[in-house]
Amino acid sequence: MYTGLFHTHKAVVILFVLLYLIKLVLLLMNRRETLARLTKAMKIPEMVISTLFLVTGVVMLVQLPAARIDMLMIIKIIAVFAAIPLAVIGFKKSNKALALLSFVLLIAVYGLAEMHKAGVGAEAVEVPADLANNQIEQGNHLYHNATPAACVACHGEDGKAGTAGSKDLTLSKLTDDQMKEVIMNGKNAMPKYKKLTDGQLSALVSYIRTLK
Ligand code: HEC
Repeated sequence: MYTGLFHTHKAVVILFVLLYLIKLVLLLMNRRETLARLTKAMKIPEMVISTLFLVTGVVMLVQLPAARIDMLMIIKIIAVFAAIPLAVIGFKKSNKALALLSFVLLIAVYGLAEMHKAGVGAEAVEVPADLANNQIEQGNHLYHNATPAACVACHGEDGKAGTAGSKDLTLSKLTDDQMKEVIMNGKNAMPKYKKLTDGQLSALVSYIRTLK
């Protein structure tokens, strides 16, 4: 459900940005008549696209664990809600600067979303020295403290929580290496964990195996 929303949101955002880009180019080239015709023809599709864009975004946002609502996410949301009225006014008044500014904001939002997913700004996690030589204890610590968001926030204490479209870890058929791959590179709503060392990834996998 969440993963479906995630893909719908991405697809709708691409349509939204494309339509917006075409309108912006027409405005900047002073093609007023073409712009007016396009705006009229696209009135209903545009309403559908913008509604889907906002609804999928809000429905995902309310399901997102608090641990994932960091500064990047907050700036992203503010930028979206700033871009929309600027775009409406920009096109209504044929104000090129405003229309362009709102487009730049939208592109910035895309960049912020990618940074959020990539875990930009996440600090490496220090594992307390007394846990360092126990693989499972180390994994347990990381499961509850990894950055950009603790695994427990989505997967839950028992690995079965399924928050934000996450998979039940106790039912995973992945090999150790495939698990490490997902943790390092993220997948769908799961962020990338680029700051984990290979030893830490192995410790996490060992811990996940104990959840069975
Ligand atoms: C924001 C939520 C979120 C957080 C935080 C998160 N995950 Fe996930 N995880 C997911 C989602 C969503 C999937 C499913 C991805 C897919 O296949 O669509 C997933 C899948 C996985 C899988 C693959 C399971 C399978 O069988 O395909 C593993 C392993 C995993 N997560 C481990 C972790 C670990 C370890 C951490 C912490 C370092 C973590 N996750 C943090 C959301 C999260």
